[in-house]
Amino acid sequence: MKTFTIGVIAGDGVGQEVIPQAKRVLDAVAHKHDVTFAFQDFDWGADHYFRWGRMMPAGAIDLLQPCDAILLGAVGHPQIPDHTTLNGLLLPIRRAFDQYANVRPAYLYPGVQSPLARPKGGEIDFVVVRENTEGEYAQVGGFVYQHQPEEVAIQTSVFTRRGIDRIVRFAFELAVERNKKKRVTSITKSNAQGFSMVLWDRTFRAVATEFPDIETESLLVDAAAMNFIRRPESFDVVVGSNLFCDILSDISAIIIGSMGLAASANLDPQRRFPSMFEPVHGSAPDIAGKGIVNPLATILSAGMMLDHLEMREAAKQVEAAVAAVLAEGNVRTPDLGGKSSTEEVTDAVLGKF
Ligand SMILES: NC(=O)c1ccc[n+]([C@@H]2O[C@H](COP(=O)([O-])OP(=O)(O)OC[C@H]3O[C@@H](n4cnc5c(N)ncnc54)[C@H](O)[C@@H]3O)[C@@H](O)[C@H]2O)c1
Repeated sequence: MKTFTIGVIAGDGVGQEVIPQAKRVLDAVAHKHDVTFAFQDFDWGADHYFRWGRMMPAGAIDLLQPCDAILLGAVGHPQIPDHTTLNGLLLPIRRAFDQYANVRPAYLYPGVQSPLARPKGGEIDFVVVRENTEGEYAQVGGFVYQHQPEEVAIQTSVFTRRGIDRIVRFAFELAVERNKKKRVTSITKSNAQGFSMVLWDRTFRAVATEFPDIETESLLVDAAAMNFIRRPESFDVVVGSNLFCDILSDISAIIIGSMGLAASANLDPQRRFPSMFEPVHGSAPDIAGKGIVNPLATILSAGMMLDHLEMREAAKQVEAAVAAVLAEGNVRTPDLGGKSSTEEVTDAVLGKF
């Protein structure tokens, strides 16, 4: 029997509630498909920070490296600055394991109401591919005259030809694999950012020539924000920088009905290191501890993990079970207008297996 070692970081807030639900689904998958998931739980996050002054221990990356994949809930605590939580846990993992493709599908499931008036279930179906290791999140910069009235902060973006080439190439390959609208939309702001984004545009055009069957479109990020609302049905694969796609993927998450449905994968497409799977949402302190957080984003992220582990059939079963629960509409958490608890939603998903 094959055993997959899964590093699990439930993290903070609702992360502690959604991860056990994803594990329940994975246990059911294991039972059905004759595999074992050996969960290795790491109690890193805000509590670790309060105790030890850091979000995860110094040797954290070494502990995660042997895992086949990593499942993450969320990090973030109202009493810790967000840049501390992000730079102390999430970003170092993404960078250390060169998880350069952050894949965030946006699919409006039949039975779910979009806050937009027009699209019906199935009509929004695109994927945001976010560059995940450099760009605006490279953490290059510093303060001068710190805490003085004349303080200066410098934050430098880092865009490399290699980094752009590989994420753009990934986006084109995904459009081929999806075999849907066969369109890649590139997001920049090259009218205002005349170096980094110009390099991005040039690289995008060069890679596009290798994929003559894929239609291309280039949008400035402000126009993209508008068009995610105005014509979401037109998108297939959308590729952009770390910051731009971080922001845009919150729009794509909400137009498919809830943050609680948006899954994501941080992939090392070359499979040298473990990839990491997590919901798009954060630790949601406003609803944490109430038992009402929607677990489906995390369950769908676990489904993406199964696909990455080449358990394609199992991945499809998880997605189909979630789709069936949403289509029936009887069991749903308050973010989707229901009254069910987190656990009841997972029970309903397991009932479809
Ligand atoms: N990847 C991550 O770990 C990650 C991502 C985003 C934000 N954060 C952190 O999370 C904390 C809270 O951030 P925020 O409030 O801006 O974003 P958030 O995603 O945690 O919450 C935004 C809103 O969506 C709702 N929501 C989110 N997930 C939901 C779910 N599964 N079911 C039902 N409702 C859900 C919340 O209740 C809240 O009203 C901050 O510390 C932030 O830094 C972490």
